[in-house]
Amino acid sequence: MEKQTAIVTGSAQGIGKAIAMRLAKDGFNVVISDVNLESAKKVAEEIRALGVGSAAVKADVSSREEVGKLVEETVKSFGTLDVYVSNAGIAQVKPLLEVTEEEMQRIFKINVFGTIFGLQAAAEQMKLQPQGGKIINAASIAAHKGMSMLGMYSATKFAVRAITQAAAQELAQFKITVNAYCPGIVMTPMWDLIDEKMAEYMGLKRGEALAKYSEGIILGRTEQPEDVANFVSYLASQDSNYMTGQSVLIDGGILFS
Ligand SMILES: NC(=O)c1ccc[n+]([C@@H]2O[C@H](COP(=O)([O-])OP(=O)(O)OC[C@H]3O[C@@H](n4cnc5c(N)ncnc54)[C@H](O)[C@@H]3O)[C@@H](O)[C@H]2O)c1
Repeated sequence: MEKQTAIVTGSAQGIGKAIAMRLAKDGFNVVISDVNLESAKKVAEEIRALGVGSAAVKADVSSREEVGKLVEETVKSFGTLDVYVSNAGIAQVKPLLEVTEEEMQRIFKINVFGTIFGLQAAAEQMKLQPQGGKIINAASIAAHKGMSMLGMYSATKFAVRAITQAAAQELAQFKITVNAYCPGIVMTPMWDLIDEKMAEYMGLKRGEALAKYSEGIILGRTEQPEDVANFVSYLASQDSNYMTGQSVLIDGGILFS
């Protein structure tokens, strides 16, 4: 294929890093974007060592200005933007009755505003390209079922699913597809945090919340970031050209849609 370029936000670690590494192996130039520039630079170096173009760009997805600059710099360096993966996101573990206004604003600014800022900046560029492009959002099993102690997080991921459906309808005319991946229980620093906080609230020991939630995985093991990346590779490829507006569960069989 002609050299294509992808941006992956929140790709300094976890699922984003696995997606970035996979897209690099698929032949994309990959821009590693994160608030943690030091770690992002290391991932970009790993990718360049594969003989693939890569750059690290610091951008907070909750800033429209920074996301705009991220797309601008990418196009300046690599000439095109074919795939934009809105992966950056945060979790909060708290009963809804205790959530503060500040916490609500923080999680919505990153998970929801961040997805929209990415969609806007990426689509404005992709509209200029005859080949269009692919926008891929991070949703979750919590986009299909509101989860106890993860109420605000679930609200943001339901919103991501709604944005994915609406954007797919608005952007099809520009040859832009919009889909989302919905992982289950993925072994990243995010789940370390969820396990720790759940343990505090529910009087459990570390690891017990993870074990409890993992019981429902019919494939019998927790998810690795690469399990998600394998599916995102498909969403980023030409094989998914006839698919848009979908938020697909890739969770080892926890939920069924
Ligand atoms: N881990 C899971 O089990 C799981 C399950 C379903 C969905 N997800 C979703 O997948 C995505 C990645 O999750 P993960 O587990 O790899 O998380 P993680 O916490 O391990 O990594 C997230 C990365 O995003 C970066 N980040 C955080 N806020 C940012 C911001 N404002 N701007 C730019 N970068 C920012 C962090 O620095 C970090 O490198 C998230 O959207 C998450 O909600 C994760």
